[in-house]
Amino acid sequence: MSKGKFYITTPIYYPSDKLHIGHTYCTVASDAMARYKRMQGYDVMFLTGTDEHGQKIEEKAKAAGVTPKQFVDNIIEGPGGILDLWKLMNISNDRFIRTTDDYHEHAIQRIFRKLYEQGDIYKGAYKGLYCTPCESFWTESQLVDGKCPDCGREVKYAEEEAYFFRLSKYADRIMKLFEEQPDFLEPASRMNEMINNFLKPGLEDLCVSRTSFTWGVPVDFDPGHVVYVWVDALSNYITALGYENDRYDDYDKYWPADVHFVGKEIVRFHSIIWPAMLMALDLPLPKKVYGHGWLLLDGGKMSKSRGNVVDPVILAERYGVDALRFFLLRTFPFGSDGTFSNELLINTINVDLANDLGNLVSRTVSMAVKYFGGTLPETQAADPEKDGELLAMASGLRGRYEAQMEKYQFQNALEEVFRVLDRANKYIDENAPWVLAKDMEANGARLAAVMYDLLETIRICGVLLQPFMPDSCVKIFTQIGAAEELRTWDSAESFGGLPRTVTVEKGAALFPRIDLEKELEALK
Ligand code: MSP
Repeated sequence: MSKGKFYITTPIYYPSDKLHIGHTYCTVASDAMARYKRMQGYDVMFLTGTDEHGQKIEEKAKAAGVTPKQFVDNIIEGPGGILDLWKLMNISNDRFIRTTDDYHEHAIQRIFRKLYEQGDIYKGAYKGLYCTPCESFWTESQLVDGKCPDCGREVKYAEEEAYFFRLSKYADRIMKLFEEQPDFLEPASRMNEMINNFLKPGLEDLCVSRTSFTWGVPVDFDPGHVVYVWVDALSNYITALGYENDRYDDYDKYWPADVHFVGKEIVRFHSIIWPAMLMALDLPLPKKVYGHGWLLLDGGKMSKSRGNVVDPVILAERYGVDALRFFLLRTFPFGSDGTFSNELLINTINVDLANDLGNLVSRTVSMAVKYFGGTLPETQAADPEKDGELLAMASGLRGRYEAQMEKYQFQNALEEVFRVLDRANKYIDENAPWVLAKDMEANGARLAAVMYDLLETIRICGVLLQPFMPDSCVKIFTQIGAAEELRTWDSAESFGGLPRTVTVEKGAALFPRIDLEKELEALK
């Protein structure tokens, strides 16, 4: 039976360049959360997509000598494009929205018209300092030495006809939302930033149309204007469910979103502008916006324009998709920035995956084969003193893990699993199966119980690792003889799911150890 619905979104990505590992980070986190909720029994809607309009894309297409649509099609659908990347990374999104999809564009026009007709959007003039070659308005404080911050040329005062959204009208309601629902925006530090930097100084109305370029959704009642890309983009979260269109019919089922995962630099759009738009449309607000941190490289945000990006495809092909997915969520606390390095990646794979997990599985399975021919005997002898701690840790694991996942603390949830795996490794040393095996007549029953406890601990950990490493967990289950029904969420609630006379099957090493020095040299 369904536990209810769970609607989770990633930002929709700009198809202006190939995506890098920073983009992959948020999508993998959303995917792990979606898989976790599905396993728990929720009816999940996991949405991602692409945000395809705007001046930047128009310019890039021009430079490439193609139309904007040809340009974005290639980055999204072409070989090695965004769709290929998500397929490679095993992303289980239920829907993919493109803001150039007809149904979305028409819905945007309806939304814009509705807000205009009810007076939340009005026509005015955009005034400011204008750089003609860059076609951009700047404020005094954005200028560098009085000149355009992008190209360094002279700016001049200019006015342009534009539509505005009455953002200022919603300032009080947004402040109230933050006060009454302190968990609306997490981590808490991001809410303080929004209050101090944007709400307290006062919200100004937002310019929501442009006339200086054409690659956008046209304002249908005023040709020449295209809708501001953020109004277009934010609305994807509801148009993808069927709001103001006939393509889908899930709005009532899934809205409001349970969580929008977004990078910290776009928190303002999601926690102030988006709620204000929804208030104006008289629609419910998302339950939560979670602003995650950035992956940094060489001291700064990894980004194409800084030229310090890491290609997820190279890493996934070298070390495996699951290892990369795991690394991203095991290493960096989701709410904070984290510094990427090849060394950190390889060490994480070696310590956690090759050693603590992979080696535990292969040792355990090998011993079960060596001492019992692969099938444990019926007769087993528990030793409460020696088994108690491991059993208690493994039995309570699911609850501790869930407590962390519910707070989007992936790193801590994985830490809980690895504490149990560490305990299991220690349990092997404490019980020294190789010593027990010397006298099978006297110790065979005890040895079988030790093997069983290890296999069952691995099974429970495997169930909980599935949202992070879906393919590797299937390999684990095959090796330890866990049938389908022993891979479910329910089955990890308590210790003892595997049949006592389980049959194991040796398999290839799950995560081969990497030679750090050699590999760092190769990656250079
Ligand atoms: N198109 C907008 C989002 C519109 S949502 C209605 C956009 N696109 S983006 O492609 O530039 O970025 C998409 C997401 O990737 C953002 O959440 C951004 O924070 C994230 N990241 C981009 N670089 C990143 C890192 N170096 N590290 C972590 N996340 C990063 O913004």
